[in-house]
Amino acid sequence: MPNRLPNIHACVFDAYGTLFDVASAARSAQDALGEKWQTLAELWRSRQLQYTWLRSLTGQYMDFWQVTGDALDFALETLRVADPALRERLMNLYLTLEAYPEVRETLSKLSAAGMKLAILSNGAPAMLSAAAVHAGIAELFDAIISVDEVKFYKPHPWVYALASERLNIDAANICFLSSNGWDAYSAKAFGFRVLWCNRSGQAPERLPETPDAQIASLAELPQLVLP
Ligand code: LAC
Repeated sequence: MPNRLPNIHACVFDAYGTLFDVASAARSAQDALGEKWQTLAELWRSRQLQYTWLRSLTGQYMDFWQVTGDALDFALETLRVADPALRERLMNLYLTLEAYPEVRETLSKLSAAGMKLAILSNGAPAMLSAAAVHAGIAELFDAIISVDEVKFYKPHPWVYALASERLNIDAANICFLSSNGWDAYSAKAFGFRVLWCNRSGQAPERLPETPDAQIASLAELPQLVLP
């Protein structure tokens, strides 16, 4: 069990992979995709992230809905799936991703104890609010913040700075949570306290700043940040 993090006034969550299970979209379309669903899920997610980094580096920002659609098109064509109705179905599933099982209860506990809560994500505003409403957690957040405000994707420091500005809380008093290793390490480099929700037991990243600790699920969070 990691040590308690003192003086935390807000918990800020990454969305995809941390609160919402991104693989649940392809998994829900297993009837149409058959055994390809898992490869599709992996290709879709990896291209989606690569496109965010590439678009930021080349100064060609388009919002996450566009990037998610482009990545899906790449994945479908790679797997020789040509089915416009299925493409539309998969994109719509992204708006109703399943939240991980512990998410709602964890957020409720934190909120009841007076902790400020926010989402800070690459997601376009409409995507984030649709997923949060679908998961029944939207009303628990003080802010749902999208990179769309700065038109740069994570891990640009401008993105992390948005949370501190919007909540009016110093980075050192914010606990940032992400299941994406690169996001957790970059948020630590920015100046947040960081818990890496390492759901898949991934090896440590070889990046400059190491998160304060790792947890296996968000259920461990309240006892680490509440007094
Ligand atoms: C997000 C991606 C990184 O929600 O998962 O920002």
